[in-house]
Amino acid sequence: MTRRVAILISGRGSNMASLIEAAQAADFPAEIALVLSNRPDAEGLARAKDSGLATLAIDHKAFPDRESFDRALDAALNEHDIAFICLAGFMRVLSDWFVERWAGRMINIHPSLLPLYRGTQTHRRALEDGVLVHGCTVHFVVPELDAGPIIAQAVVPVVPGDTQESLAARVIAQEHRLYPQALRMICDGTARLENGRVVFSRQWDAGGALHSPT
Ligand code: GRF
Repeated sequence: MTRRVAILISGRGSNMASLIEAAQAADFPAEIALVLSNRPDAEGLARAKDSGLATLAIDHKAFPDRESFDRALDAALNEHDIAFICLAGFMRVLSDWFVERWAGRMINIHPSLLPLYRGTQTHRRALEDGVLVHGCTVHFVVPELDAGPIIAQAVVPVVPGDTQESLAARVIAQEHRLYPQALRMICDGTARLENGRVVFSRQWDAGGALHSPT
């Protein structure tokens, strides 16, 4: 069964592009049915249009408060018959109302090994702390920011001489591999949210190949 997926973006949309590419595979259990941005000028929106996908801009500045924007977002997603949402660099905090409505059906990618480095500036903070590994996480979205149950993670080394830019480049390359894998897992039912935890329908070998892509 092919699930109708919306990708929500605010910026360049490189993760969006990796999801679009993955969804072109014949056996991929999702179809990218909508790319939606809260910023009409988002670079990613033009990229999605060029790929021939349905796109929509809902400018948050046109709404008096967070909840009315979120209601417009919810209405648009329902109009497009969306089953799952992927946040991909979507830079708006969503209201509890919206998050609860989409509980178990909305995922996000974050550029750190959560629960380390929630929020922004993750690469700078990792370098300052002198950690030897860093990475990215796909998680279900809950009202608390970057705190949802974890579906998949990928690890990268931090190497001597790394700058924020070199580390960011190593992490984003893994994001582009990890996000399509995680979307596949929720769309085919391999991973689902149950009582606030992720339940996997299959047992993985130690380490779980899907959890640490090579
Ligand atoms: C990525 O680093 C992602 O982890 C974070 O926002 C950034 C979006 O980048 N949530 P892009 O727009 O997908 O290139």
